Amino acid sequence: MGGREHWTGRFGFIMATAGSAVGLGNVWKFPYEAGQNGGGAFLLLYLFFIALFGLSLVIAELLLGRTTQRNPVGAFRALGGGAWPLVGGVGVLAGFVILSFYIVVAGWTLAYLGFMISGDLGADPAVLGERFGAFVGSPLAPIGWAALFMLLSVAVVIGGVKGGIEKASRILMPALFVLLLLLVLRSISLPGAEAGLAYYLQPDWSRVTMETVSSAIGQAFFSLSLGMGALITYGSYLQRDANIAGSATIIVGLDTLVALLAGLMILPAVFAFGFDPSAGPGLTFITLPAVFAQMPAGQWFGIAFFALLAVAALTSAISLLETVVCYFTDETRLGRKGATAVVAAIAFAMGVPASLSLGVWSGITVPGTSLGIFDFLDFTASNLMLPLGGLLTAVFVGWRWSQPAAEALRGAGMPAALLPVWIAVLRYIAPLGIAVILFGALR
Ligand code: PHE
Repeated sequence: MGGREHWTGRFGFIMATAGSAVGLGNVWKFPYEAGQNGGGAFLLLYLFFIALFGLSLVIAELLLGRTTQRNPVGAFRALGGGAWPLVGGVGVLAGFVILSFYIVVAGWTLAYLGFMISGDLGADPAVLGERFGAFVGSPLAPIGWAALFMLLSVAVVIGGVKGGIEKASRILMPALFVLLLLLVLRSISLPGAEAGLAYYLQPDWSRVTMETVSSAIGQAFFSLSLGMGALITYGSYLQRDANIAGSATIIVGLDTLVALLAGLMILPAVFAFGFDPSAGPGLTFITLPAVFAQMPAGQWFGIAFFALLAVAALTSAISLLETVVCYFTDETRLGRKGATAVVAAIAFAMGVPASLSLGVWSGITVPGTSLGIFDFLDFTASNLMLPLGGLLTAVFVGWRWSQPAAEALRGAGMPAALLPVWIAVLRYIAPLGIAVILFGALR
């Protein structure tokens, strides 16, 4: 081997990994889930899970990658052997599944960027709702946009770790933060924004059910890119003595901040214009264009918003693609170009039925469930595979791997005083907490 690429330094690593974490999960999913699940109550649950085991698991995954310099399957094989590589295998599979429906929604963001630029969406929420439904449900256009988005991701991943992923993230992530701050300031200064702020910041516990708790934990995993080895992969491009605990804290902090800010950007605007916060997945694509249409210079804010969403989605899709590509380049004789082409083609082929299930195939449900193909892929990956992967990773690092403490302390790693806390989270708190919720979700 010998030829593994590494990040150029700490800034590049943090931007790329924060780029993986910050995505549609933060800007599209989080605000609508908060809107559906009692606003502030969902927010607090989400923050609770991130603090309880999110950060510890991010550190654990990055450490597995840094130590082994391997893809998820290879990392578990190197340190555990036996059946453990299967955990990495399920992760790689989850990467495929998530990528397939992720590019569908990411394609919508590109399409809406186009609609915003041409300025022909109109302002009537009812019309916007019909338009969104018609667009998403049409057989060809969304698939074309998804293909375009996949090609963008492929172009970056083919450029490699330094010249592709890190380079793109170094530019795109700071741009994203600037756009986001601009939009938050605009949103909270709208007349009537207070009602949205109150909804978002004052928890309504009466709306909280087992399902809410399960969505909040699924959201924490999805948003942190946890449980499928994406962070093992990005950690494997770290030098063996690179800081992990400090960088992980910054990455988790940035991811949480962006979700919080995305809520602050969307919910006050929704209330200021009298829309329904529980509109669901359409919140971003129906409600926001209506909001933009009523704002001074709204077209420009609209363009900025969908550009932001596309950028956030791109740096995440790159990491999904890279995780699977890394598996194939490490474990087979495929080169980077070949592996990227094969993985992208398969994930795209899986994305086609996902997209069709929102239109012409909307009557079809996956046998044994009441879910359509798109929702089934999302639910299975986000609410089952990722938490399960996270649970097993915690058990692996906490109980099976013999050296986690020494590795965590190496190279400006974890403060020694926090080590026992980290180990206790991985051994007891994370496995028990996740198991309870996982079984709750399955019942
Ligand atoms: N974290 C990304 C988001 O919030 C999605 C993602 C999940 C990326 C898992 C990589 C791995 O959109």
